[in-house]
Amino acid sequence: MDNDWYAPISDDLKKVDEIIEKVLRSERPELQEMCDYVTSSGGKKIRPAMCILSHCACGGTRKDEVLRIAAAFEIIHDATLIHDDINDNGELRRGRKTMHKKYTVTKAIILGDFMFAMGFRLLGTMNEKIIETATKASAAMAESEFIQKEFEHRPAVTEKDYINIIRGKTAMPIFACARTGAHMADVPDDVLDIVSGFALDVGLAFQIVDDVLDIIGDHVSTGKKIGIDIAEGKPTLPMIYAMADEKNGKAIKKIFENREMSDEDVHKALALIKDTGAVDICISKAKEIVENAISQLSCLKDSVYKDSLIGLARYVVNRDR
Ligand code: IPE
Ligand code: IPE
Ligand code: MG
Ligand code: MG
Repeated sequence: MDNDWYAPISDDLKKVDEIIEKVLRSERPELQEMCDYVTSSGGKKIRPAMCILSHCACGGTRKDEVLRIAAAFEIIHDATLIHDDINDNGELRRGRKTMHKKYTVTKAIILGDFMFAMGFRLLGTMNEKIIETATKASAAMAESEFIQKEFEHRPAVTEKDYINIIRGKTAMPIFACARTGAHMADVPDDVLDIVSGFALDVGLAFQIVDDVLDIIGDHVSTGKKIGIDIAEGKPTLPMIYAMADEKNGKAIKKIFENREMSDEDVHKALALIKDTGAVDICISKAKEIVENAISQLSCLKDSVYKDSLIGLARYVVNRDR
């Protein structure tokens, strides 16, 4: 799997980076330094890519505005990650120290707030529908983080609970990127629903794979510490399947329940989970979701952008970072 899907929007994504750098400006030197730490860190840019590709695949021509929307989503995403790393005790992000490890928790919280403000300010110049979609997604994310908290270290969590959590925390923001991009192309409502529904499914698959990478990933590729979800008692799909395993399930549950597990426990759990085959089931599931999502796109006219949108969806489940 290569990254061919990226080519048609590589210049656009560079422009998105330029917009982000222009927006994240402060007269406070340390705040500026922290902003620069974010902008130089190089995320995958999945969300702006989804926004731009949805727009172009729908025949849209309002690139300038869409690039600003895409930039706003990436800024909001970055802000979320800074706060998420505080909540998850993350030490490594994009291959470097997390913001709170480098600059203290207090300053990282403030930087996140600053970035949320700047991201929404950028959206503030857009029409009401765009703001409404983005705000709804951010609210859904916050609510889902609360639901997730309720399930931490609780083996009773079900697949249905999990899907409900990741719909809000991960899929809704990706849905919002696609919906706003398509909206700017003035498509009829049924097409708007199809494109954003596709993105919602891609978002679900995206989080399933993220959770899989926490188990079988390599920190050099992911840029994050492996096993962190286990240590934090996060209700993930591979964990849910592994806890149901006949042979290892009981031992895995015992570790999952422990709020004071050691590094050794985490390593033991990683080995036990890998031994269950839960990871393969999760990957198949993510692939199935994505292929089903792709089949919904038949209403879109063929174009290089539609191909890229499909390529992006497949990249989400074939990635190692
Ligand atoms: C990480 O998102 C947070 C999740 C929703 C899993 P990404 O994996 O898209 O992070 P970056 O932006 O590429 O670093
Ligand atoms: C994504 O979940 C959380 C957000 C929606 C911000 P994770 O906690 O799994 O993301 P990573 O693995 O830290 O990137
Ligand atoms: Mg996290
Ligand atoms: Mg994760």
